[in-house]
Amino acid sequence: MNISKMHENPYNPEPARIVRHYDLIEDHRFFQIRHVDMNRAMSFTYNPGQFIMLSIPGVGEAPFSISSTPSRPGILELGVRKVGTLTESLFQKQDNDIIYIRGPYGNGYKIEQMEKKDLIITAGGLGVIPLRSILYYVLDNRDKFGRVFFLYGAGDSNQFLFRDEFFQLKARNDLDCMYTVDKADKTWTESEGVVTKLFKNLPEIDPQNTIGLVTGPPVMYKFVIDEFLKLKIPKNMIQLSLERRMKCGIGKCGHCALDHLYTCIDGPVFTYWDTQHFRELI
Ligand SMILES: Cc1cc2nc3c(=O)[nH]c(=O)nc-3n(C[C@H](O)[C@H](O)[C@H](O)COP(=O)(O)OP(=O)(O)OC[C@H]3O[C@@H](n4cnc5c(N)ncnc54)[C@H](O)[C@@H]3O)c2cc1C
Ligand code: FES
Repeated sequence: MNISKMHENPYNPEPARIVRHYDLIEDHRFFQIRHVDMNRAMSFTYNPGQFIMLSIPGVGEAPFSISSTPSRPGILELGVRKVGTLTESLFQKQDNDIIYIRGPYGNGYKIEQMEKKDLIITAGGLGVIPLRSILYYVLDNRDKFGRVFFLYGAGDSNQFLFRDEFFQLKARNDLDCMYTVDKADKTWTESEGVVTKLFKNLPEIDPQNTIGLVTGPPVMYKFVIDEFLKLKIPKNMIQLSLERRMKCGIGKCGHCALDHLYTCIDGPVFTYWDTQHFRELI
């Protein structure tokens, strides 16, 4: 089949090859994948914060955030937690095996709003997967942004994703990384406590010139947003990435509908201002 024709039907998945994979932590695996069609691989563009629909024939399909940055084209990176049928089947795949993807979908982070501003990027647990995309995008376009604070918290050191990679980032002098785990063990050298504890380490910020980003487990949003509000960051300058159950990813099936919003096309990134009017979103 002519591959360029395949792109015309939004439900048609495109073959992609697993280039490399490794375990991040137990039941969480990192995948680098590439479209089989090299032209498509190199021309595929997306915004940080967007997701793809990944499928395995005869097994199923589900959305996954893109964790790589569009500033490094050719390869897509995913971080996947094994929870059910599709992810179990994906974990049986090896390098060079073929899977299928369609997308990119969703809106992604509001990058124009972030330019020239200071950024407080706040992640909890698996929420770091989409935020890793915007983090590397910002680092690859460093002169377009102000100060960057990266706050990441996990349950314990065994649940801290991308540990080696993120600890290497601490050497950079254009990024302020702060890490914490709820419960520390002997191997842990950083803070102990929930991620909101890290806010007290922030220097003075100018709230009109600062964007707050947050993604993490549902329980985290309220507390992190409270910290942003205490810093007087305006509600429309707080960006959240939210997950809802999705089926089509393109605004057709209604699975992710909330009032007149479809989280697959109007989200998954919303401002806190948006969610104030749609409280069910959090
Ligand atoms: C926009 C978006 C981005 C996502 N990004 C990632 C990602 O980067 N990495 C990742 O590991 N997962 C991500 N997910 C979640 C992923 O799509 C689901 O875990 C997926 O259902 C797994 O499929 P499965 O067949 O393995 O499990 P399933 O058989 O579908 O489900 C296994 C268990 O998870 C529950 N479940 C499934 N989906 C959801 C959901 N959306 N919310 C709450 N519970 C759910 C089911 O009820 C069941 O208990 C994302 C979801 C969305 C909507
Ligand atoms: S997932 Fe079908 S409308 Fe959003």
